[in-house]
Parts: sequence; C-alpha cells; structure tokens
Amino acid sequence: MKIRKAVIPAAGFGTRFLPLTKSMPKEMLPIINKPVIHYVVEEAVRSGIKDILIITATGKRAIEDYFDHNADLEQHLGKNNKNKELNEINIFADDVYIHFIRQKEQKGLGHAVSLAKKFVGNEPFVVLLGDDIIKSKKHATKQMMDVFEEKQATIIGVEEVPKERIEKYGVIDGEKLKENLYLIKSLVEKPKLKDAPSNIGIIGRYILMPQIFECLEKIKPGAGGELQLTDALVLLQKTQEMYAFVFDGKRYDTGNPEGWLKTNIEYAMDDECLREKLKLKELLE
Ligand code: UTP
Repeated sequence: MKIRKAVIPAAGFGTRFLPLTKSMPKEMLPIINKPVIHYVVEEAVRSGIKDILIITATGKRAIEDYFDHNADLEQHLGKNNKNKELNEINIFADDVYIHFIRQKEQKGLGHAVSLAKKFVGNEPFVVLLGDDIIKSKKHATKQMMDVFEEKQATIIGVEEVPKERIEKYGVIDGEKLKENLYLIKSLVEKPKLKDAPSNIGIIGRYILMPQIFECLEKIKPGAGGELQLTDALVLLQKTQEMYAFVFDGKRYDTGNPEGWLKTNIEYAMDDECLREKLKLKELLE
C-alpha cells in the first residue's frame, strides 16, 4: 500500500493564542514571511503527497485564500515584472490538489479527522497537525513514510517530553525495537504524571490505516470533553500492530505565543541575512 493523501486538521479554536485567534487563524501566523500552514503543506508535498485535505472552520477563510490563486495580484506583479514575487505566490505545482472541508462544530481532533473519511477512502493516509512544524534534513513525513513502506501499519510520530509537560500529551507505552522505533502496547491521552506509562509523547504527525474511521465512530468524548484521536488509536491498537517513530528533527509547537516566538527566532537565526541585520546573536546574549 502506498500513501497518496494527507489530512491537515486546522479547525481548532486556538484558545492558547487568544485574543488573536478571535478573528485570525493561528495557522496563518507568520514564521518569517510564510504562514505556519505553508510549512506543513510543504512538508507533505515534498514528501511526495499531491492530494491534501485541510479541515477548517468558521473564521478560517484566510487559509483557503492563501492556497487559492489571486488573479489581480498576479496581473499586478506580472505588469511590473516582479517575477521573483510571482514565483513566490504560486506556491505549489499545478498537480498538487488542496481541498477544504469545514468542521461545523469543534468537537475535537478525533472528530476533525473523521470528516476526512470520504476523501481518504480505503487507503492509509498521513495526518499533519496544522500548527506543528518540524525542521529536519529529511522531512518528518517522508521519514515516517519510509517506515510505513516496511511495516504497512499505523505509525505515530513521537518525541521525548520533559516530565513537567507530559500531562499535555498523548503518551505511549511501547516495546523498544530500535533506537527510534517502538511497538506500541498502549496509549493514553493527557495522563496525570503519576499514570503516564512513559515520557514518549505523541506529536502532530501520524500515518493511519483506514480502519481508524470505524474506531472514530465508536469513541465517546474523552480528555477535555473532546473526541480524541488517541482514544480511537487505543481501539485500533487492539486489532492491529501500531508503531511509534522518533523522527529525526526539531519540532515546533507554534500554537502558543511562546512557541511561535521561539520558532521565529530560530528560523531567523538560520537565515544569514536576518541574523546579521537583527544582530540576533548579540540580542540573545
Ligand atoms: P489543539 O489541541 O492545538 O487545539 O488541537 P486548538 O483548539 O487548535 O488550540 P488550543 O489548544 O485551544 O490553543 C490539535 C489539532 O487539532 C485541530 C487543531 O486545529 C490542531 O491542528 N483540531 C482540534 C481540529 O481540527 N478540530 C477540533 O475540534 C479540535
């Protein structure tokens, strides 16, 4: 089985970023001059995926506009010979299809993913959370797709999480097969520290087998009163093998002010021109 499709849930309220998210999607916040969701879509496309479904909600129109053509702007740039800018706004090749669906009620990540059932059909697919970006030599999604080639099973992206933050994550209990691969024995969403089975936390990348949709239909509201993807994964794990993969790279949670600022600073540090202009090294000393 080959992975051809990706789903990007981006419908959440973004309460950690209020008041900004009252009228602006957090996925449209800039990292330098591109919105967060640009990096997420780019990761999927550069990993070889050409069909992408973004799950949005009321107040998130800016995401749809960003990936649409803007004929007036294109004409304006063309007339003024601004070819570099023209190339920049035509983000992806014409054979990349970005589709949208709206989650009418924000009932949780599990509910958002369940809306992708028709789009996905009966094939494995990738889920990338719209506010998590990962900097790596080889894209994290591609790394996971390579593991999938061998295992042909659900693969969950994970990282080691400091103890004081574990209660915010889905956490796995697994048998270590390799330095970066676990066979999952159980999972739990947002456990109390004393109940956490490990310090291996789920981050925003998943390769899911299509049977996840049957499990999503069975779950009840869990942590935070939301329909949790992790609860559906618990059901799926009872019927088929499931792996956790520690990707090679650095993950940034841009969904809160501190994480977003940190991401911008680190991306600016990587840019020679910005690093010099802002005298970032001196500023951070
Ligand atoms: P978060 O836990 O980050 O929730 O969702 P949130 O609402 O986006 O942000 P906070 O925590 O209130 O600040 C994880 C992912 O699930 C999506 C979000 O868009 C994000 O990509 N999500 C969450 C949905 O698509 N729908 C939902 O109902 C909930």
